[in-house]
Amino acid sequence: MAIYNKHDFAKLRVAGRIAAEVLDYITPFIKEGVSTLELNDLCHAFILKKGATSACLHYNGFPKSVCISINDVICHGIPRKDEILKKGDILNIDVTVIKDGYYGDTSRMYTVGKVSKGAQDLINYTYEAMMSAIDILRPGLPLSVIGYTVEEVIKHKKYGIVKDFAGHGIGKKFHEDPNILHYYTSFYDKHIIQEGMVFTVEPMINTGNDEMFIEKNGWIARTCDESLSAQFEHTIGITKDGVEIFTLSPKGFTKPPYKV
Ligand code: MF3
Ligand code: CO
Ligand code: CO
Repeated sequence: MAIYNKHDFAKLRVAGRIAAEVLDYITPFIKEGVSTLELNDLCHAFILKKGATSACLHYNGFPKSVCISINDVICHGIPRKDEILKKGDILNIDVTVIKDGYYGDTSRMYTVGKVSKGAQDLINYTYEAMMSAIDILRPGLPLSVIGYTVEEVIKHKKYGIVKDFAGHGIGKKFHEDPNILHYYTSFYDKHIIQEGMVFTVEPMINTGNDEMFIEKNGWIARTCDESLSAQFEHTIGITKDGVEIFTLSPKGFTKPPYKV
């Protein structure tokens, strides 16, 4: 497992900030009638303007620069010209950039117009689950606190936590050890968090159960029961006595509705 030093942290801060700036930049474009391909192309151009590249484009054959996942799509949604945002939709945009050989990976939810109370609740709980799991991190704790905390936050809701995807170590590679599970398993009680670890926390939570399937294209993951799914993601680094979030929004955006 990679341990990153001060120099690496400085580079990760830059990459993380650019990824977060992409999500800030795209916010006012999220409107009824816009296609996910248009959003992809805007993000792509912005990433290049920042002197970075998209880590997603051509990654294991992924065809676009960002993932856009609407309603019952859990993750890895592929932007399309004929996929048009409509009122009441909820969507996640997931951006990973490479800057100077370092990766920044972050995603947020967005809403189109007014959404149902059930949808807004799911978004609020998913955000709180991610932030609570990040805020407690420090050297010496077991990695299992992450999944434990996510479960604690949502325990009074009948939500499903997606088990087929996980957070991941990141840094000079897109995906590396450790695997970050968003549900509790005692297996991770023995894995202890250390200063210099860098990984993502990115819970995917469904209003229905946790069953999913992947479309024939090999990418797009959907809930089997067609329930809504939400996700937020930050890239973080473990410091001497706590945690640093590399992908905080420079504009102060947290969860929708955003004040643009
Ligand atoms: N950004 C995603 C993650 O959080 C990975 C997307 S891979 C892609 O790990 F190929 F679909 F872009
Ligand atoms: Co990730
Ligand atoms: Co991501």
